[in-house]
Amino acid sequence: MTPAFSSSTFHTSTLQLHSPPVNVTVRGRSSPYRTVEFDATKNAVLLIEQRLLPHRFEQVAILNYRDTACAITDMVVRGAGAIGATAAYGLAQGALEFKGTNPGRFCTHLLSVYETLKEARPTAVDPVNAMDGVLRAMSAGRTVREQQTIAVAAARAFADEDVAHCREIGEHGAPLIREGMRVLTHCNAGWLAFVDIGTATAPLYAAQAQGRKFHVFCDETRPRCQGASLTAWELAQQGISHDVIADNAAGFLMQRGEIDLVIVGSDRVLGRTGEVCNKIGTYTKAVLAHRHKIPFYVAIPGSTIDWNLKSGRDIPIEERAGDEVLGAWGIAERQKGEGKRKKEGERIYVRIANPSSTARNPGFDVTPPDLITGIITPRGIFKPKDLRTLKP
Ligand code: MRU
Repeated sequence: MTPAFSSSTFHTSTLQLHSPPVNVTVRGRSSPYRTVEFDATKNAVLLIEQRLLPHRFEQVAILNYRDTACAITDMVVRGAGAIGATAAYGLAQGALEFKGTNPGRFCTHLLSVYETLKEARPTAVDPVNAMDGVLRAMSAGRTVREQQTIAVAAARAFADEDVAHCREIGEHGAPLIREGMRVLTHCNAGWLAFVDIGTATAPLYAAQAQGRKFHVFCDETRPRCQGASLTAWELAQQGISHDVIADNAAGFLMQRGEIDLVIVGSDRVLGRTGEVCNKIGTYTKAVLAHRHKIPFYVAIPGSTIDWNLKSGRDIPIEERAGDEVLGAWGIAERQKGEGKRKKEGERIYVRIANPSSTARNPGFDVTPPDLITGIITPRGIFKPKDLRTLKP
């Protein structure tokens, strides 16, 4: 079968690829893991339980498409490419859950699976692009059975293409990372946010494989702290020198000349305008980088481009629950001088804000193209306005 995603826009190139698959070391043992996998014999989507990281590494099996949608909403899995692959596998999982042979009923069922997964998180466009690709591929099947088989193959093709795109981003982006540089990144656009390798991290991993040394500053990324917990954990796994910084510290470091380059990922880039939607706080960092004349790059695979929307104002920005802002999650630890606590070692929520206060919690913001130096894609580095030349 032709892979659903080898579009002429983002074909797999013949670049020499340096980024090896990412190994995870748990209790001294290293093995390669993908963030999202599929077990067709059990009809299960396998996910790394990201809410437990960096304190515990666990893979969970999700056994039906409704639970797969909940895993996306609750951020067991997160990051644009990773939720794209999860949605693609979730659609295949939902297709396999259908037991009949009637094509009309199958189609109705499939649309309901599609909508459930699409609504799980609204901002990233990757789940929609991924599922549209699976549906396109399925249309070649003549029977329900054939379409079910194609759905699994097409979801796998999406996941494989996500990995290939991240490798290519690494090759194009690696020359930007020069010896001794200090690089700022925001949130987590690493392998946990994709199927493997990541986007913003791909040039770092490729530069490391080419023998260069550099330092990374990870924005903590409140409210959910993906920078402090996930990016810092990934970089530690890779042996890359890094510091976590408070979100408010980047301006100070830029002013003192301690940041040379910024690379972030994205959840949706508008192909028509070059606007970049990413984790809340990205826009602030882009304004600061512009003020300090620091190059600001965005790294994306093909599935992150939205060719339809005409303005960043039309992007559905997810508003999450206020408790994310009003408190924080972590692992209970015994403080010096404290007695033994019942919850020690457990993941707990602690309230930080004033008990009677409420919160606003927009999850993403939109950075205009004039603040962006370049967009690193599997096809090379483009000025945001030139992305439209890639339209299939
Ligand atoms: O809310 P998340 O953790 O799913 O958001 C992910 C991001 O916005 C990251 O910034 C990432 O850069 C996008 S790349 C997958």
